[in-house]
Amino acid sequence: MSYVSVKNITKRFDDKLVLDNVSFDIKEGDIFGLIGPNGAGKSTLINIITGLIKANSGEASIGGYSILKEPLKAKGMLGLVPQELALMETMSVYDNLEYFGAFYGLGGKLLKERINESLEITGLSDRKKEKVKKFSGGMKRRLNLAVAIMHKPKLLIMDEPTVGVDPQSRNCIFEYVRNINKENNTTVIYTSHYMEEVESLCSHIFILDSGKEIASGSKSEIKSMANIHGKIKITLENGNDEFVLKIKNIKGVKECFTQNSEISVLTDESIFNLDDLMLLAINEKKKIKNFNMEEASLEEVFLSLTGKKLRD
Ligand SMILES: Nc1ncnc2c1ncn2[C@@H]1O[C@H](COP(=O)(O)OP(=O)(O)O)[C@@H](O)[C@H]1O
Ligand SMILES: [Mg+2]
Repeated sequence: MSYVSVKNITKRFDDKLVLDNVSFDIKEGDIFGLIGPNGAGKSTLINIITGLIKANSGEASIGGYSILKEPLKAKGMLGLVPQELALMETMSVYDNLEYFGAFYGLGGKLLKERINESLEITGLSDRKKEKVKKFSGGMKRRLNLAVAIMHKPKLLIMDEPTVGVDPQSRNCIFEYVRNINKENNTTVIYTSHYMEEVESLCSHIFILDSGKEIASGSKSEIKSMANIHGKIKITLENGNDEFVLKIKNIKGVKECFTQNSEISVLTDESIFNLDDLMLLAINEKKKIKNFNMEEASLEEVFLSLTGKKLRD
């Protein structure tokens, strides 16, 4: 059964179409990765799912509750770590948790218990007396996570939680997401424009570009949708642009691009056209310095599906 359902969401800001008929279902216990470049519409979609803004058409529900018809019940299911941090800067870590905990209807002994648990989980226990305004981006992000999980939500939504975050906080966030998902079967929506993060963390991936669905499925489903199987990396002693163009003409080559002195070839049948590639190199008198084959990454799948790089 699906835990989150998004049906035909369309959103315009003035005349600009920002979400174009977006639909998906998220199974309970999934870690759902919503990826797309900056401006794709990820935060707008999150804001609609969480009831912060209204769509022009379409509907969303959480745990069976419509965000429009039963907003309090739907919102009660979720914890949100927004892209723009929401914290009281002049208050201490502890006071922030107390303040937001009251919003969730927590009080007394239970509130204290949950504050301490959240501090423990996010590694902030020994900094609970410090004022938020002195914190780094990573520490603030951790505190926002602590706030979001105080009421033990069944659905945790994190919007670009690792932007501007130090590696230690980033690992803390990853570890937490994996744990809470495994131990409590918490459903997670995780948005990012870093493909490699989503690739390692998420069980289902939804690619959004300019407000439209580009692909949706497991990592391997998406890769086969893009018809990409492998990546061949070659470094030549004497490569050039003309050679890259010739590689693109080999049957089975989907994409070919150079980065520094390295040529990357994305293929749909890497085993079969390897001979052609070698033959071309020999005929063109190219000296191969380095050569390897690997599985294509989501970054390259995105490139193949949209013709553009995720991070311009
Ligand atoms: N409140 C708003 N008013 C007008 N345009 C907006 C507003 N919020 C977002 N947009 C526009 O909608 C598009 C999608 O933005 P956003 O959802 O923030 O993308 P993402 O989170 O994927 O980076 C962008 O072009 C952005 O400029
Ligand atoms: Mg965003």
